Amino acid sequence: PPSLSGRDCLHLSEYTPQEIEALLSLALECKEKHKRGEVWQPLLGKTLAMIFDKPSTRTRISFEAGMAQLGGHALALDRNHLQLGRGESIADTAQVFSGLVDGILIRTHRHRDVEELADYASIPVINGLTDLHHPCQALADLLTLKEVKGNLTGRKLVYVGDGNNVLHSLAEAAAHTGMHLVAATPPGYEPQGSILAKAKEIAKQTGATITCTHDPMEAAVNADAIYTDVWASMGQEEEKGKRERDFEGYQVNETLIKQGKPDVTFLHCLPAYRGLEVSREVIDGPHSVVFQQAENRLHAQKALLMMVLG
Ligand code: CP
Ligand code: NVA
Repeated sequence: PPSLSGRDCLHLSEYTPQEIEALLSLALECKEKHKRGEVWQPLLGKTLAMIFDKPSTRTRISFEAGMAQLGGHALALDRNHLQLGRGESIADTAQVFSGLVDGILIRTHRHRDVEELADYASIPVINGLTDLHHPCQALADLLTLKEVKGNLTGRKLVYVGDGNNVLHSLAEAAAHTGMHLVAATPPGYEPQGSILAKAKEIAKQTGATITCTHDPMEAAVNADAIYTDVWASMGQEEEKGKRERDFEGYQVNETLIKQGKPDVTFLHCLPAYRGLEVSREVIDGPHSVVFQQAENRLHAQKALLMMVLG
């Protein structure tokens, strides 16, 4: 398998389809071992420092539990309790962390700040969500889709909603695995062209396609999977009212689900807002795998940690 030792994980287009494949098979192995109750501690003595500038349930718990299970340790740090919150520079923080711990996980607003941290750190930096990317989520999503669908090549994955961080990473993930991603967003909420361009470069190697539309009903026809995320992401709280008006008609509900294949899978990274981006019937219904996705954060990230810190 390819070695990812010492590498960062800021976004998924820095990896090759082969590296993603290797991560996913290791993730499956991690999950099987965990289910059997096998103790596997390849990261004995390693420490991951985690910086959170935004709230988190899944990311924080899965990284903390994952490091513990691998024999290592994770410490969750809040920006306001670090000198970073009082003006110590990202560059100095990166160099100090590099002498004290083995890896850094960061959840913050500006993607540029994570790139700067990675530039100055001599240890791997993992993106736990920025305004542009959510690579760890997309790895767990691929693992979930693989479990549910088997082979992913040629599958139609439809994303309905905001052209945000989750969609950007999902597009890169789809490209790596040869899926056909269709993104239906309201006008003005399209994903970033420069990120899609990188995903399309990868897609050339795998036969994947990435298309954008404003019509969710049309997009959902024959879907193998339908994905949505919140309309107002963290940091966009004041736009909530406007967004709810602009996203009218973009709810994933029974009518939309019926456009997909009979066994269509519903995905959501969570947290979810029932009655807004998704109806209660869909997220709590038979097509939904949202809690499997949340659990798979643990297994996908353990594989990532083993490969970059190992
Ligand atoms: N999906 C996800 O990243 O969840 P948290 O915000 O709870 O970490
Ligand atoms: N798009 C959401 C994802 C949360 C996990 C946000 O950025 O808030």
